[in-house]
Amino acid sequence: MGDNKSSDSLWHGRFAGGPAESLMAYTVSLPFDRQLWEVDVQGSKAHVRGLGRAGVLSPDEVESVLNALEVVHQEFSDGLFQFRDGDEDIHTAVERRVTEIAGDAGSRLHTARSRNDQVATDLRLWTKQAIAEVASGVVNLQRVLLDRARQAGDAYLPGYTHLQRAQPVMLAHHLLAHAWSLHRDFDRLVDAHRRLDVSPLGAGALAGTSIEIDPALTAEDLGFAAVFTNSLDAVSDRDFVAETLFDLSLIGIHLSRIGEEWVLWTSDEFGFARLDDAYATGSSMLPQKKNADIAELARGKSGRLIGNLTGLLATLKALPLAYNRDLQEDKEPLFDSVEHTVLALAAIAGMIGTAEFDTDQMAAAADAELLVSTDLAEHLVRNGIPFRQAHAQVGQLVRRHLSGEGQLRDLAMTEIGPECAAYFERGGATKMRTSPGGAGPSPVAVQITAFTEKLSESVARLKELG
Ligand code: ARG
Repeated sequence: MGDNKSSDSLWHGRFAGGPAESLMAYTVSLPFDRQLWEVDVQGSKAHVRGLGRAGVLSPDEVESVLNALEVVHQEFSDGLFQFRDGDEDIHTAVERRVTEIAGDAGSRLHTARSRNDQVATDLRLWTKQAIAEVASGVVNLQRVLLDRARQAGDAYLPGYTHLQRAQPVMLAHHLLAHAWSLHRDFDRLVDAHRRLDVSPLGAGALAGTSIEIDPALTAEDLGFAAVFTNSLDAVSDRDFVAETLFDLSLIGIHLSRIGEEWVLWTSDEFGFARLDDAYATGSSMLPQKKNADIAELARGKSGRLIGNLTGLLATLKALPLAYNRDLQEDKEPLFDSVEHTVLALAAIAGMIGTAEFDTDQMAAAADAELLVSTDLAEHLVRNGIPFRQAHAQVGQLVRRHLSGEGQLRDLAMTEIGPECAAYFERGGATKMRTSPGGAGPSPVAVQITAFTEKLSESVARLKELG
């Protein structure tokens, strides 16, 4: 049994009856693509001006359609826009309303345009803005990390490999390690923005049009840096969505790694940081609890970001040219990933910006005797002993210390020399990290200057994204 219901669709001329309810229910995209309303109106305005230049619409008609589009814009801004049952997507809804307002002139709006080039244009315009917003969130978090690195002064903590204490590192060095990975994220976003800055408007359904429009002028009108050169590619290409989703996934993964560390750092077992009350949550049952839910969700939500990317890649994988309705599946993952990345960046920035570091606890963990082992070996190297032998010699001292023969410091002073005492002073080992890019005070000071410069470059690049 069918469930035909008559209502005017965009393609009603070709069809005897209206679309079935189940078809509409399954195929509508309005519930999620309505957030494209602003870029849809913007794209339509540029298209109408193009039709005016082509002489397809008279100057009066152009003005009347532009006015109608302005009314639509106002209705959306005021939250007064009324959707109708037959509105399949945002493009249908806007065009339907323009025609109600501007009459005949309105029904010329869709000349030389298909929803295929329209939706690709809308989504590129939307993604450009979204990338700018995410990039600004990235820069904000980087600034927080830099501020905290500056404030950290001489504080140091154990650096880990395999989550086993390895060598002490300056707290500033650790914080900036994350700031650098975010710098690559920023770079990738700018790059994705540059590549997607191409207008597909004027590609029509797939092959262009016989109407004399000039897509290059429309591209310029919309602020795109370039215009398509192949109409089939223009309407089929969703590389920019996949690329953006990858960039967001990697940001998500970086935030997840930060999150995992903060879960550890704020535990009683580590005790390296305490969260501000405003950025922690309590337990409904356990009165003593203070939980790092932001950090945990940054870890947890990276899963959905990766899922959104892999889902879209699977959708795109076997699509023949040109437009296929499958492509409608591009929007929800993109919108979702952008929303959650923006939220995560702000929450993590707030959490790190307000937390209190327990630098005594960090120092106590980093001053553990065993963390000096590598410095003892390097001391022997400076005295002409080959590193492999030095490594073995210190390894034996470590073994004797662990089997209860005495403190590593005392064993080193007897077996190597009294000068070894210096390495065991509080914070002594941290100062030994002197090589460029290393974790000690002098290279870290250089690094702070370098990162400060990078960050001000990023702020300038951010302005170029608009
Ligand atoms: N809602 C559609 C989408 O998001 C718009 C394009 C529809 N085009 C078509 N030929 N049915 O992809």
